[in-house]
Amino acid sequence: MAPFLRILGIETSCDETAAAVVERGQDGSSTVLSDVVLSQLDEHSAYGGVVPEIAARAHVEALDTLIEEALKRANVSLSDVDAIAATSGPGLIGGLLVGLMTGKAIARAAGKPLYAVNHLEGHALTARLTDGLSFPYLMLLVSGGHTQLILVRGVGDYERWGTTIDDALGEAFDKTAKLLGLPYPGGPAVEEAAKTGNPDRFDFPRPLVGEARLDFSFSGLKTAVRQAATEIAPLTQQDIADICASFQKAVSRTLKDRIGRGLQRFKREFPHLGEMPALVVAGGVAANLELRATLQDLCSVNGFRFIAPPLRLCTDNAVMIAWAGLERMATGAAADDLDVQPRSRWPLDSKAETLLGYGKRGAKA
Ligand code: KG4
Ligand code: ZN
Repeated sequence: MAPFLRILGIETSCDETAAAVVERGQDGSSTVLSDVVLSQLDEHSAYGGVVPEIAARAHVEALDTLIEEALKRANVSLSDVDAIAATSGPGLIGGLLVGLMTGKAIARAAGKPLYAVNHLEGHALTARLTDGLSFPYLMLLVSGGHTQLILVRGVGDYERWGTTIDDALGEAFDKTAKLLGLPYPGGPAVEEAAKTGNPDRFDFPRPLVGEARLDFSFSGLKTAVRQAATEIAPLTQQDIADICASFQKAVSRTLKDRIGRGLQRFKREFPHLGEMPALVVAGGVAANLELRATLQDLCSVNGFRFIAPPLRLCTDNAVMIAWAGLERMATGAAADDLDVQPRSRWPLDSKAETLLGYGKRGAKA
């Protein structure tokens, strides 16, 4: 058996076009040979959000060159890779089609197996690439399209413990920013404004706090922000800062309650783990330093390790898609047929029910 497997990964499910070449040793070690990401942020920012048609077109224009670049930077040719991994869902269907069809064409032309990867599985397994984490662990995915707490039991073995019943957390940041006149994407703008604000000026709601279920809800918070902003309009810079700081505080408190319950449940379900349990975060919202600090604190108090992969690997990228493909190969799982179809919705936990409003922005992380 070869000492390692090498794969070309392709990601096109939202507004990042990405390609990467990654290796996995038999011992589970990883080597990222190349990691190329082209963000379409500039193309979408004028519209205050991702426009699916613009995204699909931009993927078509960029993908071939990006794949060539990824192979070049890795100093390999197609004949040197063992397989192709392409995101086939969940996400925006136009982008998924571009990436998956390209992956199929390369697989057919080069005579390599194709792995159609679930984007969420890419996020879920990244911590094994960065930190060599062993199963099981908990993962909090907080991005523009998803807010999920997932039990990661093994490759292909996931249990969704919580999800949002309305807006994703990144979406709540983006909408709050928009109604305060801050630029898109809203997360970084809200975080920046919050630095000079008073977090105690507004007492925003903390939806579902205290409830036993592990789901999230953020649309009431957004509505409360709108009401506060309308009441004190016209807004000064200080008002905006105070609203942002109070919003972030409400989010922090909500996460503390929800995730705290998740950590307790994990300890009940896995009392004899043999090592310190771990909580992993992924998704763009994981960039927020206040939320990170909250989660870090919560983990210390509950005896958990807090694992936040480098931001580049927390947000959308092709390394995680390549890695998810490699992890599947390593389990001996069969490759996909070339007639595999993209899926705009594709929950990691097929047994989890779809909650009302879930994934409104396109079921995308
Ligand atoms: O994972 P990601 O890069 O893309 C997808 O959603 O697919 O996440 C983007 C989301 C946006 O909603 C953005 O506002 C949010 O992550 N975000 C943040 C921060 N940076 C990005 N939210 C809060 N604080 C931040 N610093
Ligand atoms: Zn994502």
